[in-house]
Amino acid sequence: MAAVTYELKKTCKQSGARLGTIHTPHGSIETPMFMPVGTLATVKTLSPEELEDMNAQIILSNTYHLWLRPGEDIVQEAGGLHSFMNWDRPILTDSGGFQVFSLSDFRNIKEEGVHFRNHISGEKLFLSPEKAMQIQNALGPDIMMALDECPPYPAEESYMKASVERTSRWAERCLEAHQNKDSQGLFGIIQGGEYEHLRKQSADDLISLDFPGYAIGGLSVGEPKDVMNRVLDFTTPLLPDHKPRYLMGVGSADSLIDGAIRGVDMFDCVLPTRIARNGACMTNHGRLVVRNAAYARDFSPIDRDCNCHVCRNYSRAYIRHLIKSNETFGFRLTSYHNLYFLLDLMKKVREAIMEDRLLDFREEFFEQYGFNRP
Ligand code: GUN
Ligand code: ZN
Repeated sequence: MAAVTYELKKTCKQSGARLGTIHTPHGSIETPMFMPVGTLATVKTLSPEELEDMNAQIILSNTYHLWLRPGEDIVQEAGGLHSFMNWDRPILTDSGGFQVFSLSDFRNIKEEGVHFRNHISGEKLFLSPEKAMQIQNALGPDIMMALDECPPYPAEESYMKASVERTSRWAERCLEAHQNKDSQGLFGIIQGGEYEHLRKQSADDLISLDFPGYAIGGLSVGEPKDVMNRVLDFTTPLLPDHKPRYLMGVGSADSLIDGAIRGVDMFDCVLPTRIARNGACMTNHGRLVVRNAAYARDFSPIDRDCNCHVCRNYSRAYIRHLIKSNETFGFRLTSYHNLYFLLDLMKKVREAIMEDRLLDFREEFFEQYGFNRP
């Protein structure tokens, strides 16, 4: 039995969006869903108890960061990532490829892997498909990601083709090197940028390797929103119905809805927690920068239509004061609200799919969201 399986429960008659369940060794996940990011084995400022409280079903962590600090051997000695961080629901780890490309100023991509410098110490390092699997096998997440190359946007077609072909060869080496197939599911990552024939080539290559799930990578790298939607329009129909689809690095409310409509089941992004630490909040009425002077005497909640613990108990004025004073508790409150907001949005998306009305839901949501009446 595969470690990770997907059950398609229903397709929205109005939009084509999928309602499903992903089964993992640490429990099941209702999809479409959003994964909070815990890069260094912590979702910044929040405890696992708080994440459970807001109904986070799965969190994401990073191979690259945990390899450098504290080292996968220490995590393994602790009994794996779940026990190390005291989180017993599912975990997914990204492969490290994307982080090498986004964090390291020196890198040299070769067929065998990528040479780069540690972004903290400057030390020379080498990450190969085999190494990415060894680290993720030691960390022990439920879902691991294959090592890929995520080229910048825009990239030349000839470069993209060579990159897609290398990513396919790396994917095959990842499958070969993966030691724990019974307890960890390995997903392949489709690349190809905005080029339809390259997305097709990438999807065909990876589908022939029969991964238990497929990610769509190389999006949310600076391309306009309509390019992302167009790429999803021609990529998701290439994917098998009985496997989960994961759109990497996407976490704005509008893109989650538009992704679900195009048949995506899983999303992740640092956006909600990152902007929270700048005092920015996601709300049903658009983005609210609670730091702004306008909220100094505003004793209403961040979002009057949000039922989270923060919105039920704390005011804009108080949260603004904390954040202006650099108080940790302020960042905790905005982080909690933002994650709750996206998790709750995905719950509403699942309900709308259930009722065959996701396009109507999109209209209603966008009308409020764009209206911006904080
Ligand atoms: N996170 C966001 N985009 C990507 C991608 O293309 N590849 C990987 N590995 N991680 C990502
Ligand atoms: Zn709230």
